[in-house]
Amino acid sequence: MTNSIINRRSFLVFSAAAATFIFGRKLFSKPNFQPAKNAKLAIPPLMEGTLKDGVYHYDLTIQKAKHMFFEGALTNTYAMNATYLAPTLHLKNGTKVSINYTNKLDEVTTMHGHGMHLPASMDGSPWQPIAPNDTWSAQYTVKQRACTNWYHPHAEGKTAEHVYMGLAGFLIIDDEESKKISLPKEYGVDDLPIVLQDRFFDYNAQLYYNPNMQQIMKGYKSELLITNGVINPYADVKAKNIRLRLLNGSNSTVYRLAFSDDRDFVQVATDNSFLEEPVEMDTLKLSPGERAEIIVDMSDDFGQKVALIETKLNRAFVTLNVNEKATTNEEVPDKLTTLDKYSLKNVTNKRKFVLTGGMGRVYINDVRMDMAVINEVVPINKVELWEIHNKQSMMGMEHNFHIHGTHFMVVERNGRASNVHDNEKGYKDTVYLNSGEQVKVLVKMTDYTDDVVPYMYHCHFLEHEDRGMMGQFTVV
Ligand code: C2O
Ligand code: CU
Ligand code: CU
Repeated sequence: MTNSIINRRSFLVFSAAAATFIFGRKLFSKPNFQPAKNAKLAIPPLMEGTLKDGVYHYDLTIQKAKHMFFEGALTNTYAMNATYLAPTLHLKNGTKVSINYTNKLDEVTTMHGHGMHLPASMDGSPWQPIAPNDTWSAQYTVKQRACTNWYHPHAEGKTAEHVYMGLAGFLIIDDEESKKISLPKEYGVDDLPIVLQDRFFDYNAQLYYNPNMQQIMKGYKSELLITNGVINPYADVKAKNIRLRLLNGSNSTVYRLAFSDDRDFVQVATDNSFLEEPVEMDTLKLSPGERAEIIVDMSDDFGQKVALIETKLNRAFVTLNVNEKATTNEEVPDKLTTLDKYSLKNVTNKRKFVLTGGMGRVYINDVRMDMAVINEVVPINKVELWEIHNKQSMMGMEHNFHIHGTHFMVVERNGRASNVHDNEKGYKDTVYLNSGEQVKVLVKMTDYTDDVVPYMYHCHFLEHEDRGMMGQFTVV
């Protein structure tokens, strides 16, 4: 009797999952509506903040909105001061900021500064919930190198859905070095912020977030690519070096990026800093949450169109339309910066994080995130070696590993320093691990301690994070 009920139940669950999978793949990513033809790449407005008593204030409203992804249809979204996504906040190293988020949704959310070096109480993690109609302010001094960070919700168990609905924006940090460096830096003109995402839509052109078990484990991957909230856009650029600040803002799709004519390009920055030297490449792998700044040379391409494509799908994220000659061009320097590196010799402590999963469940060191449990206590100003292992499984799951509040350096991949990719030799806050891979990173927590409020570490595949592939650590 009991048995047959269980069987019947699991049969129903199974068939529902199978149906969703089929519709999700074949139908729901192609609604009856057509994306606008010749849509221009949207550039999120740049917010400089208002200076009051020595503090730069940024006011953002988290709200429901309606966005036009398809001709003749409005899609319900969540957004900040926009109909999808959010303004780019321009922050300067050494300045004090107050980023004020007012939550006009009818549910709790949070707003996390991904990649920001800040006190745990200002992190926007699940520990700083913003109730409906409340305002929460992230107040801190910007204390880090020039880089491209981003902000997004981090509410317990709700991150994936809130990001899927459209909540995400760039935080661009400048410092003395980045102001002077010879790289394109005219925002929205030759320095383009690019959020890469993919989305499922239903027949009413509404965002469809309903991953089945397969999609939870292997990624909620749609074939419909969205770039800054636009499907298949183009951007007019001059015939010169163009800088793209790429953010993988998808929930759980790893992108392999290249240009439509297979041209080479150089990566100049990782998550949290410039690379010491530009790294030449023709394909870039970017996992959820990671950033890469690249320079693509368009100086010989006047009159041409070149697309940034996802190579697995062979579809364009954005097409660069080189429609104007340039009078100036910034030569990419051979040496971009000098990074402060921690030494293996100074390591005072080692920690190991084993990522495992199967049957819809995911774990770090065999446990799932519990708000009531502080998993690790980390002493301030000590160099630690964190070993992260994506344990090989039958499913062959991909993961990555993100640490809040600081950056780290990848020093070993799969047992060897020489396996560390050239383009992960800058400051990182998120590192990719294919099934069976293992990386070692050097981490140092500086400046801020808090006995009570923790930071998070987690897999940034949001379907994994929301199901508990996350842990908490305090800095003391
Ligand atoms: Cu981008 Cu803990 O997040
Ligand atoms: Cu983060
Ligand atoms: Cu994962």
